[in-house]
Amino acid sequence: MTLEEKAGMLNGLDFWHLKGVGRLGIPSVMVTDGPHGLRKQAGQADHLGLNASVPATAFPTAAALACSYDRELVGEVGQALGDLCQQEDVAVILGPGANIKRSPLCGRNFEYFSEDPFLTGEIAAAHIQGVQSRNVGTSLKHFAMNNQETRRMTVDVNCGERAMREIYLAGFERAVKKGKPWTVMCSYNKIDGVYSSENPWLLRSVLRGEWGFDGFTMTDWGACNDHVRGIAAGLNLSMPSLGDAADADVVRAVREGRLDEKAVDEAVAEVLNVVFRYAENRKKDPDFSLGAQHHLARKVARECAVLLKNDGTLPLSSNAKIAFIGAFAESPRYQGGGSSHINAYEVTSALEAVRSVAKVAYAPGYAAESNDTDPALLAEAVALAKESDVAVVFAGLPDSFESEGFDRTHLRMPDCQNELIRALCAVNCHVVVVLHNGAPVEMPWADDVSAILEMYLGGQAVGGASVDLLFGAVSPSGKLAETFPMRLEDNPSYLNFPGEGDHVDYAEGLYVGYRWYDARRMPVRFPFGHGLSYATFEYKNLRLSAGTLAQDGTLEVKVDVTNTGRMGAKEIVQLYVHSAHEGVSRPVQELKGFEKVYIAPGQTETVSFSLCRRAFSYYNPDIHDWYAEGGKYELRVGASSRDIRLTAEVELEPGKPLPVRVTADTTFGDIRKIPGADEALQPVIGGIMQAFGTMDNASMGGAANEMANAMVRDMPLHGLKSFSNGQLTDEGIEAMVRQLNEIQK
Ligand code: BGC
Repeated sequence: MTLEEKAGMLNGLDFWHLKGVGRLGIPSVMVTDGPHGLRKQAGQADHLGLNASVPATAFPTAAALACSYDRELVGEVGQALGDLCQQEDVAVILGPGANIKRSPLCGRNFEYFSEDPFLTGEIAAAHIQGVQSRNVGTSLKHFAMNNQETRRMTVDVNCGERAMREIYLAGFERAVKKGKPWTVMCSYNKIDGVYSSENPWLLRSVLRGEWGFDGFTMTDWGACNDHVRGIAAGLNLSMPSLGDAADADVVRAVREGRLDEKAVDEAVAEVLNVVFRYAENRKKDPDFSLGAQHHLARKVARECAVLLKNDGTLPLSSNAKIAFIGAFAESPRYQGGGSSHINAYEVTSALEAVRSVAKVAYAPGYAAESNDTDPALLAEAVALAKESDVAVVFAGLPDSFESEGFDRTHLRMPDCQNELIRALCAVNCHVVVVLHNGAPVEMPWADDVSAILEMYLGGQAVGGASVDLLFGAVSPSGKLAETFPMRLEDNPSYLNFPGEGDHVDYAEGLYVGYRWYDARRMPVRFPFGHGLSYATFEYKNLRLSAGTLAQDGTLEVKVDVTNTGRMGAKEIVQLYVHSAHEGVSRPVQELKGFEKVYIAPGQTETVSFSLCRRAFSYYNPDIHDWYAEGGKYELRVGASSRDIRLTAEVELEPGKPLPVRVTADTTFGDIRKIPGADEALQPVIGGIMQAFGTMDNASMGGAANEMANAMVRDMPLHGLKSFSNGQLTDEGIEAMVRQLNEIQK
């Protein structure tokens, strides 16, 4: 390839295509959104979901998909997306989004999986594997630290390496290592002052170096700041096209010696690998039908829905006098706004789906896009509820309340909907709320209604799925992938979201989602992992393959779960690890395993997990690596983060001790953690050590003893000078520092 041709491969052809090189048989391939369906624009292009795209299946959005906790099911969705892509000749579908839900206000939370990185990574990997099984690529996005829409193109995120690794990057890490996406899309924002599109640490060291990514990276649409700098940092492709001038810039930079041609060659090779992986495995007539995909969309929506509350009113009997109330019953909100917006080829409403199951009366109750009550609609709905056995209200957030491009400023549903629910509760004691929303809402009426069924943005078949669940054709089986707080102010990012100007501080550190609510022992509306069923489950017989685990070992964890109800149903069994070690701040518990299992009534199934060292590790910024402290850990198995049914203890064998980076400021307490430190220092400070030893063991007793110990423990090395009668000089201290660092090598 000529240098010009190579430069061309690193800059898009137009809005959705890469360049090809005709004379060399390199095809020009298309990439497009996604990721909950296909948004292929045949006509005018945009990245905001404005112009029409070819009709396709709209599956439940990521926020819903995660609630299935079902890798296989998400894989099936991926396969269906891959089929759509093959049919439409799309080489890469832009998604899934693996950003962590730092705040429930993020306008794009409906496109993200969870507040938890383990769940995020597992579900993202399943999605990726599903799509790519059809020889179509994915673009894992938005890498990284894109957790808000406000000023998303300029905001500079300050987070700290530990929280970044444990919370925000860990989901991407798992998705990359397990799912092996063909491409990764970098985010718009900056991290510590550097745009993601030109961050060599992110794109080279972490993504390729540590995680073994071997595909290509592309910018989010318009995220390129300096194209040449991006390529030098490890970026492969700027999208959409920057025009011919950008190619000329690259050529000039190489000729002038500012950009190594080797970097260009490598970047081009990485792009071509993906282009040919697609082109050589093209399947022009994939074997699928949109009709079958609609059925799949209904099954998936059913598996994702979360039954948040039920006093026994659900499932409904088709003989009861039932009212469906709320505009969303007739016209559901089933997807979010922006680049993921699909032109769904068929949408089933609950009102339509219920016709084959029961006779229901209907009143719209509110105007879908309005915040204000329409008194006539309200009165009509109340009158209908009064004469019904059960009032099922379809409620949630209108499009204008949440979308890509802007963040929410509160968690309230429209006033008219809250007022409607309250008014219905006043005249009917069996009010069931079915929710259509992309992220948590405050529910001031939660204690007054009989049941709440969270459908999220459940895709084009959400209406059918709601009816299946309401009438008990199948039991609800989803569980929350995020916490529903009592109120916005309880959220850990509340004081630092969305930041000031172009700067945002993730001051809450690791304590995101349930990690925060658990640490603060705060009441929440619905906890992470919560979800009810029409069946009941008993957990028994938690057992571990061993009581002690070597640092390089694997622990098998098994538990028996019995369906003690009368209906066959699926249960999501969750495994959390609790560590109570001193010295390092750790969340109370962290999700490290989950399995979804179908259990027939009266039957028992054994659920297994395996854990290795990473499940017990935290990220230690001093060694820039994961570290698992030896000692006891509690394994907690339960039906939600706040419904732990069984616990067991395992002892992790100690690993290599952490190095102590010694300086003159290092405390004596820290130094004494270094194996051999006392012996090494003996000749130099024997007398002083003895004095401290005496203080350690002094017969002072009580507070005085404790004080003496604390003084010794917290004294820095340079402080020894004052207690050595002038024997220890700065040179002596420096020699000790050298020696202490030496003995650790
Ligand atoms: C979004 C991406 C999307 C791209 C292309 C951007 O605005 O952030 O998620 O894939 O547009 O439409």
